[in-house]
Amino acid sequence: MSLTSSVAPPRVMNIADLRRAAMRRLPRAVFDYVDGGADAENTLRSNVSVFDEVLFRPRGAVASRRANLETTVLGQRFSLPFLLAPVGSTRLLFPKGEVEAARAAAAAGTGYILSTLAGTSLEEVKAGSTGTCWYQVYLVGGRDVASAAIERARKVGYSALVLTVDTAISGLRERDYRNGVAQLAAANLFRKFPYVWQILSRPGWLLSYLGDGGLMSFPNVVLSDGPMRYAEVAAALEQSVVSWADLKWIREIWKGPIVIKGILTAEDGERSVDEGVSAVIVSNHGGRQLDGVFPALRALPEVVEAVRGRAEVLVDGGIRRGGDIVKALILGAKAVLVGRAYAWGLGAAGRAGVTRAIEILTADLNRTLRLLGCASLSELDPSMIELPADFAPGRRRLAAMTDGGARLEARLQSGMLDPAGVPR
Ligand SMILES: Cc1cc2nc3c(=O)[nH]c(=O)nc-3n(C[C@H](O)[C@H](O)[C@H](O)COP(=O)(O)O)c2cc1C
Repeated sequence: MSLTSSVAPPRVMNIADLRRAAMRRLPRAVFDYVDGGADAENTLRSNVSVFDEVLFRPRGAVASRRANLETTVLGQRFSLPFLLAPVGSTRLLFPKGEVEAARAAAAAGTGYILSTLAGTSLEEVKAGSTGTCWYQVYLVGGRDVASAAIERARKVGYSALVLTVDTAISGLRERDYRNGVAQLAAANLFRKFPYVWQILSRPGWLLSYLGDGGLMSFPNVVLSDGPMRYAEVAAALEQSVVSWADLKWIREIWKGPIVIKGILTAEDGERSVDEGVSAVIVSNHGGRQLDGVFPALRALPEVVEAVRGRAEVLVDGGIRRGGDIVKALILGAKAVLVGRAYAWGLGAAGRAGVTRAIEILTADLNRTLRLLGCASLSELDPSMIELPADFAPGRRRLAAMTDGGARLEARLQSGMLDPAGVPR
């Protein structure tokens, strides 16, 4: 499939186009696994729509030929301010999906975070990529099983551990139930039968899936009888709740940076810093866990304030355009993660699709910065966005933190803005 063309307008102009392309190639059960969220999917939707509430205030008459998008996270230099989020089971989307995504990230000069629930071994992913890889930890199978994977990750050069703390139990993904994901993963052919039409209607995907070995297992979760099987994952997640005590334990066995993922409140941001993490990822798991929780962008200022520069803050959830990334950076994130944006690309066309997702977001970032009048990310400042009144607590906190914020505070005090930060 051709995703770009130098003569005609590209058929895939934005991430929504990649999503549609993924829908065409993938069986419904696989597409919905990526696309869906928990319960009524309210948080899934608001993660995306919240970006529309934040408006830009650009500077005109500024000439810059190209914006510098480089940034540093955990002391590592990245060409782009976004990394690829951990997404489990991406091998279902495309053969060796994890290797393909990691390669695309490396080629673009950015990082890839491998999920514990990957279908490809962490060694194969690292060997296939020349870029920075972090390893995301779930305690599925217990501490000994996780400890063995962490040791393997250390040996082959993963440079940070990402501990996800929002998955005490899997969220209710209604689409997965309706599509018969559990039945399709079961060994019993009769249980599969009512659901196989979705698979047969996507012969291209089916051939590539069979060519890649069929139903994946989890080679980074090695239990006493071998790699965890696909059908075992939900029960295993439920028995693997991560606690603060586990963070202490991980600190003992992993000497590199630890990142905590799934923080949404000042209280947990504060606690994370007290526990010595190097970075915090503000995230609601892409709306797949607790439905009705804050859209991630709204939680960001509160966590940034609580952390007070003692750890780096990243955010993910709902990012579909480069402009979304810019808004998150202005609100205090050092960088962001993207999940579905690249997973749809992978489902549409493997590595070429991930590369296209990265290209789209990079071009957006470059254009947005230049239209804002900035030559680099360091020139972004809080006065370049306007927030709705009920974002105000975050805005007031942000005002206390940065230079641009100091200007904003002056505007608030001079009476140009009302106490909610809205122009009078
Ligand atoms: C299909 C899918 C699988 C995911 N698997 C994991 C996982 O294994 N571990 C994890 O920490 N987060 C996982 N996430 C959450 C992502 O890391 C990230 O927080 C989320 O996708 C961000 O929202 P976005 O998809 O709107 O960008 C998954 C997300 C999706 C869409």
